[in-house]
Amino acid sequence: MKKKSGFTGQLGFVFAAAGSAVGVGNLWRFPYLAAKNGGGIFLIVYLVLIFTAGFALLTTDIAIGRRTGKSAIHAYEAMNVKWKFLGVLTFLVPVLIMTYYAVIGGWILKYLVLFLTEGGEAAAEDGCFTGFITSPGSVWYGLVFMLLTAVIVFVGVEKGIERVSKTMMPLLLVLVVGIAGYSLTLRSGTENVRTGMQGLKIYLTPDWSGMTVSRFLQITLDAMSQLFFSLSVSMGIMITYGSYVKPEVDLGKSVSMIELMDTGVALLAGVMIIPAVYVFSGVEGMSAGPGLMFISLPKVFSRMGFAGRVIGLLFFLLAAFAALTSCISVLESIVANCMELFHTQRKQTTAVLSVIYLIATAVIALGYGAFYVEARLPNGSTGQLLDIMDYISNSFMMPFIALLSSILIGWIMKPAWIGEEMERGGKIFRRKRLYTVMIRYVMPVIMLIIFLQSTGILNYL
Ligand code: PFF
Repeated sequence: MKKKSGFTGQLGFVFAAAGSAVGVGNLWRFPYLAAKNGGGIFLIVYLVLIFTAGFALLTTDIAIGRRTGKSAIHAYEAMNVKWKFLGVLTFLVPVLIMTYYAVIGGWILKYLVLFLTEGGEAAAEDGCFTGFITSPGSVWYGLVFMLLTAVIVFVGVEKGIERVSKTMMPLLLVLVVGIAGYSLTLRSGTENVRTGMQGLKIYLTPDWSGMTVSRFLQITLDAMSQLFFSLSVSMGIMITYGSYVKPEVDLGKSVSMIELMDTGVALLAGVMIIPAVYVFSGVEGMSAGPGLMFISLPKVFSRMGFAGRVIGLLFFLLAAFAALTSCISVLESIVANCMELFHTQRKQTTAVLSVIYLIATAVIALGYGAFYVEARLPNGSTGQLLDIMDYISNSFMMPFIALLSSILIGWIMKPAWIGEEMERGGKIFRRKRLYTVMIRYVMPVIMLIIFLQSTGILNYL
């Protein structure tokens, strides 16, 4: 099928893909998971996974997209009719993620507004975050964010995504580096002084004391779920994006650049947030969960005095952009698939989906108030509606999809099918051997273990 939309070239593609990859996953999800899992070990596991499993999955998705020129469902069908179901499963992941992504985007909007109107003092107060998410008013922020996303997708992929990502990404990076540097200089004013540098040490040093196999598997599952979410892999998005890429683009180089940008921002976000959490709330504060970024960062900004007002405002503005580009990519992927599935027009499809997701966003946002539930997840944590959706898509579905897709590529299509696409036009596929070993042997095994862990079955062994 001929695509109406396309990226202008290699950089256009890399920035659009990085725009999808770099989002609340890096700024919000990575730091709270790293903190919850005690820093160092999570970091090592994540880094190893990114350059092995993450590389294999990102390469696979992008190459499938460009080779078939289709979005997930039809791409899998084109590879092998019997495997169309995998395309459908893949498509269901953004369908789930979209229900809660705008809710987090809404949280960021709220903090942006707080910094605009009250200079951030209110944001730094204890209880601000909990008070906000449990109030019915929080729904409006999610709805505004969702609406914004819908309008941009309604206009079309290249105009919306490329322009925003290109200017936003470098700025965000500079800001994150600056705030991270400042976090390291923090000190707590009490008797047992805690410093940012001590916090950094906790973030970077692996603490193996009391480690068990089950705990290690849990950390690996968290790291892997983060990888899926952060790189936007195994959810069809990179397949759709791959289908927009011109034949002359070097896919290998693009994959490396996307990996580096995404991982770089996540690691730096950790340096920005974790030392600050340690200084303000000690080791106990590290397990604060999803609220971590919203609780600790405003305190950092408030310590900066007047400059903190401006920096805080700028940070939440750029974070909102990062979240927006990612949110656009989630909706874009759903729209692209629905257009192929139902043979509908872009505008009509976007409009219908937008209404559905406005409702979903409201429901999930109310999950901390009117629709409050407390579910015990197989990874041991308790979660509300948002965490339940997050767990089903990132921890449960994605390992399963990655397992099946590595079997399909490794054993049925064969790794050379991907290799040929990577080498198209005489390009060099540098990590070809690593790719082959990963996709044929390593991925199926790791993904099976992680999938079983996600179901909770391994906890009983
Ligand atoms: N990768 C994005 C992030 O890290 O925030 C999130 C994301 C984008 C998830 C696109 C899913 C998706 F389809």
